[in-house]
Formats: sequence, C-alpha cells, structure tokens
Amino acid sequence: MNHLLTDNFGRNHNYLRISLTDNCNLRCFYCMPNEDYDFTPASKLMQVDEIEAIAKLFVSFGVNKIRLTGGEPLVRKDAHKIIEKLSNLPVNLTITTNATRIDTHLDTLLASSIRSINVSLDTLQRDKFFFITKRDQFDKVLENINLLLNHNFHVKINMVVMKGINDQEINDFIEWTRDFPIHVRFIEFMPFSGNNWKSDKVLTMNEILNIIQSKYNYNKIQDAKNDTAKNFEIQGHQGTFAMISTMSEAFCGTCNRIRLTADGKLKNCLFSKNETDILTPFRMGEDVVPLIKSCIISKEKALGGQFDNILEKVDSQLIENRSMITIGG
Ligand code: GTP
Ligand code: 5AD
Ligand code: SF4
Repeated sequence: MNHLLTDNFGRNHNYLRISLTDNCNLRCFYCMPNEDYDFTPASKLMQVDEIEAIAKLFVSFGVNKIRLTGGEPLVRKDAHKIIEKLSNLPVNLTITTNATRIDTHLDTLLASSIRSINVSLDTLQRDKFFFITKRDQFDKVLENINLLLNHNFHVKINMVVMKGINDQEINDFIEWTRDFPIHVRFIEFMPFSGNNWKSDKVLTMNEILNIIQSKYNYNKIQDAKNDTAKNFEIQGHQGTFAMISTMSEAFCGTCNRIRLTADGKLKNCLFSKNETDILTPFRMGEDVVPLIKSCIISKEKALGGQFDNILEKVDSQLIENRSMITIGG
C-alpha cells in the first residue's frame, strides 16, 4: 500500500475524481445554486497540460481509476484533448455526464480508453425533464444513451430520488432494465450549498427498495470493493440496479476517493469543509506532494465530519461546503 495516499483510518485513495469545469448546459435545481451563478473563467481552470501532469503525479502514487466530472465535463471546449491525454495513463478512465453532448464527442470517446459511462438522468418524462433541468434536451439525452449502448459502452444511469419530484418513477426506471443492459443507480438526495435540501425530500434506500419490492422480486448481488453502490438484480432483466445510500447508510469505511476541483483544489471528501489549493503552488513550480499528503491525512472518518446518518438531525444550513456543480459529485 502506498503511504502517501493512505489516511489515518487506513483507507488508500486510488480513485481520483477530476472536475473539468463548473459550467453546465443544464440547470438542475438541486445542483446549481439558485442565485445567478458565475462560472469560473477559463484562466482559473486547470489547463490541459496541468491536468495531465497532476493526474500523472497521482498515478505515480497509486491512483488507478480517474473519473472526469463537471459541471458537465463535455461542455469544456478542450475536453477531447483531456480525454486523449488521460487515455494514455494506466488507469481505468471514466466519466460522469448528462449525455447531452455524447453525439458530438462520440469519436473522441470511441478512440479513448473509456468503456463505462455514468449518465445523470432523473426522469423518464419529457415535461419533468424540462422542469428539473430547465432545458429541452430529453430526446437528445435518450438518443445519446442509445448511441452509447449501440457502441457497447457500459452505461450506468444516476437517478437522484427526490420525494414529490420523481419518486413515482422508480419502477419506470426498473422497467427500463428489463430489455436494456443498463445499470440504474438510485441516489439518496444529499445536501449541498444552495440546493434547498430538506430531510423530508429524501427517499432512503429502504424506502426505495420497498417500492421496487411491491412490483418485482430482486436479489442482492456482489458489490465491487470500494463501491459507492449496493447492487441488485431482477431475474429476466438484462440490466441491474443499485442504491447509493449516503444519507441513510454511508459507505465511508471503504472510501477510496479523492477529488480535484476544476480550479485545482483538492477535497479529501465530498463533504469536506476544507480544500487544499494545489494548482497555485503547482503553477509556481513548488512541490505539491506535502500538500497532497496533509490533505489526505486530515480526512475525517465519515461524511466530512459534518453530519451522521440520522436523517432528521441533519441541518443542511450547518454544513460548510461548495455547491454540487463546483464539486462534480
Ligand atoms: P462508479 O465508479 O461507476 O461506481 O461511479 P461513482 O459512484 O464513483 O461516481 P458518479 O459520478 O456516478 O456518482 C454517483 C453518485 O454517487 C453521485 O451522487 C455522487 O455524488 C455519489 N458519490 C460518488 N462518490 C461518492 C463518495 O465518495 N461519497 C459519497 N457519499 N457519494 C459519492
Ligand atoms: N444528491 C445526490 N446526488 C446528486 N448529484 C448531483 N446533486 C446531487 C445531490 N444533491 C449526482 C448527479 C450526478 C452525480 C455526479 O451526482 O445526479 O449524476
Ligand atoms: Fe468518502 Fe466522504 Fe463520500 Fe464518505 S462522504 S464515502 S468519506 S467522500
């Protein structure tokens, strides 16, 4: 085990999530803050060669999986260059996207080392898609998901379940797995700056499973080591499904994830209060390794040390963090 990326709880961080931009072409109310939001100007973002060099540094310390996130990573004009460069690294390269730009990036994706793509999609209804995202892109997203499947990408669908918004659609997503080899992940709604989170908007894993159980017989299947998701199958269905239960049953004990924001700040947890600027010292030619080390060492045991899994007690106003669009999930 490489000690540099191992924290005080013995967790080794071999999965780096790199946010390419805090810009997005959708406007999901639970991700982007209400107030007028200014995207970070390009000069403050990590440049292609900086992303490549920093990624290589992490790989030399044992990172073997890199996920590109956003905002929406594919709205960045030089996203194709970043994907090309990182495809040469000995890592499992992956991406989380809203799928609106898959068609325009298909050649890049096919030429890259990416084989599995996570797509954020919270509804299967066109009107509701518009209500959630404020953009009329539902048909394009579905078309692009089919494009990915036709090109044999493994596709995971991320559905953030919100009470009164899309909880009636849980079994529609399950039905989708009958004839398509997709993996649907139901995600408990999490609190971030500006997203109007309230505990009564959360549907927990057990509540979601109860809804599925009312119509389907499912079986638990093996989870991968360090998986964020608890996985299930339904006999006769080509696809599978899973639960991401941050709010009711966190999975911090096996956490192997470290995050780099688009402006070059390292976050040791999705919910970390603090962040470590490595881009500024990197640009000044300074050694960033001690900074990486101290960031890892200061990681809290669970949930950034900011709350625990008693849902009713979570006060989102007390959580100090960025908005989701500037973290990348
Ligand atoms: P896989 O590599 O396919 O397992 O994906 P992933 O779950 O690591 O990444 P993705 O970007 O698809 O995220 C799916 C959901 O899981 C989002 O809601 C993320 O915010 C959440 N998530 C990802 N990593 C973590 C984590 O370290 N902690 C918590 N609590 N949630 C996470
Ligand atoms: N709670 C849970 N998941 C969220 N995501 C965005 N905001 C939230 C939230 N508040 C998910 C998106 C995307 C992933 C990176 O994070 O659906 O797929
Ligand atoms: Fe890891 Fe923090 Fe997510 Fe827990 S909440 S799994 S510690 S990133």
